[in-house]
Amino acid sequence: MKSCLLLTGLLAVCTILQAQNKLSISDTSGPQISRNIYGHFSEDLGRCIYDGFWTGDKIRMDVVEALKKIKVPVLRWPGGCYADQYHWRDAIGPRDQRKRTVNTTWGMVTEDNSFGTHEFLELCSLLGCEPYIAGNVGTGTPEEMSNWLEYLNFNGHSTLADLRRQNGREQPWNVSFWGVGNESWGCGGSMTPEFYAGQYRRYSEFCKNYPGAHLKLIASGANSDDYHWTDVVMKDISLWNTWGISMHYYTLAGPWENKGSATKFGEDLYFKAMKSCLRMEEIVSKHSAIMDKYDPKKKVALVVDEWGIWTDAEPGTNPAFLYQQNSLRDALIAGTTLNIFNNHTDRVKMANLAQTVNVLQALILTEKDKMLLTPTYYVFDMYKVHQDARALVVKFDAPNYTYGSDAVPAVNVSASRDSAGAVHISLVNIDPSKKNTVRVPLQGLPSKSVQGQILTSAKFTDINTFDQPDKVHSTAFAGAKKSGNELVVEMPPASIVVLELK
Ligand code: AHR
Repeated sequence: MKSCLLLTGLLAVCTILQAQNKLSISDTSGPQISRNIYGHFSEDLGRCIYDGFWTGDKIRMDVVEALKKIKVPVLRWPGGCYADQYHWRDAIGPRDQRKRTVNTTWGMVTEDNSFGTHEFLELCSLLGCEPYIAGNVGTGTPEEMSNWLEYLNFNGHSTLADLRRQNGREQPWNVSFWGVGNESWGCGGSMTPEFYAGQYRRYSEFCKNYPGAHLKLIASGANSDDYHWTDVVMKDISLWNTWGISMHYYTLAGPWENKGSATKFGEDLYFKAMKSCLRMEEIVSKHSAIMDKYDPKKKVALVVDEWGIWTDAEPGTNPAFLYQQNSLRDALIAGTTLNIFNNHTDRVKMANLAQTVNVLQALILTEKDKMLLTPTYYVFDMYKVHQDARALVVKFDAPNYTYGSDAVPAVNVSASRDSAGAVHISLVNIDPSKKNTVRVPLQGLPSKSVQGQILTSAKFTDINTFDQPDKVHSTAFAGAKKSGNELVVEMPPASIVVLELK
């Protein structure tokens, strides 16, 4: 009797575990995953622009080639906080005659303005991506903002459009994505949401749509879980000419004053970082719910134009330059966050990882003329298949990753179907010591061929260095096997897998 009860108990546990590991993917396609969710951010900060994209008097083509491979769809510039101290006229015309200013936001260093409007737009054209410019509300005027737009986008003749021609650019650039300030609650002017909403109305009134250049205005949005900001701004601004409202959320393994090292951390800080990263789900859901009140048809986008892990700066570097290394942990954070964005694609239409090269969660690190690809780079390479594909609804009761008395879902996932009918499933196992099996019923999914790529490494602290640049990189994945009508995926600990089903 006793052994019979034991058997029944075991069977029940097995059934629960099997149900728990079962991933169901709808066969009906949802909204399109905007390619701009895979966007990036590059600020005039530390060594992102200077040394990163720009050396001496030219754009670094090694960096451009690497970024082209991952199909960067959109690049945000010149800030960040720097946007609200930036005056575009300081950085046009002959480079040796440009103003020398002080970057009072980031380290009080001299800014020679050799990289300005023309250089940024040339960079975007080399990358084949859309520019997203953040305009200055904090120390600028509506006139300055409206003049910049005329310089950028007016095809006819005016003093400003002709100045653009004199500076070497005949055709207007037709810049479309336009931020009206940045973090206006903080470094962008310490405004209340009510005051900012008034400023937004005023500035946006003078942001004109020149022929052929329809603006997509993006209001400066909330700091992480400041839902009041979103509520007031959505209520007070005119939504008809607003394309999006932004939101910034950074993953932290500790308090701001002690965020922890990017390379030297144990499972305690690893777990904290993962928990902080997973909060993006709640934060995006709650902002979206507020937006639904004012915009039930979801015409206004939630633009997460700054995200990523923020750690202490690398020892020996200028702390104001925010230079940090990038480990397998950070790649898991990237994969998890992108899964969250894919699953919220009805509202999240753009996101920009902070910040492309040499700053925060960078894709690329440079040292003189050398460059390396970080683990995070490989995630964007693997996930690019989701760009513009149709989201598929996933249902997954994930097993737990338990640390001490706390637990978070160990595996997260998103899926999409591309225009050729191929289905891509991206899975992240954040459990650093347990493998996890995921079972995918294949009904309604293509299954003639299954291929995959994986990113993992022996330790979650593993990084790429200039001495060992290929320690962490993606490889072919052989852990997905068809078994009857199911696909059985064996996810190693701390791994990211992207499968292609055709
Ligand atoms: O990305 C670094 C900084 O973080 C940005 O300048 C600012 O917008 C945010 O606080």
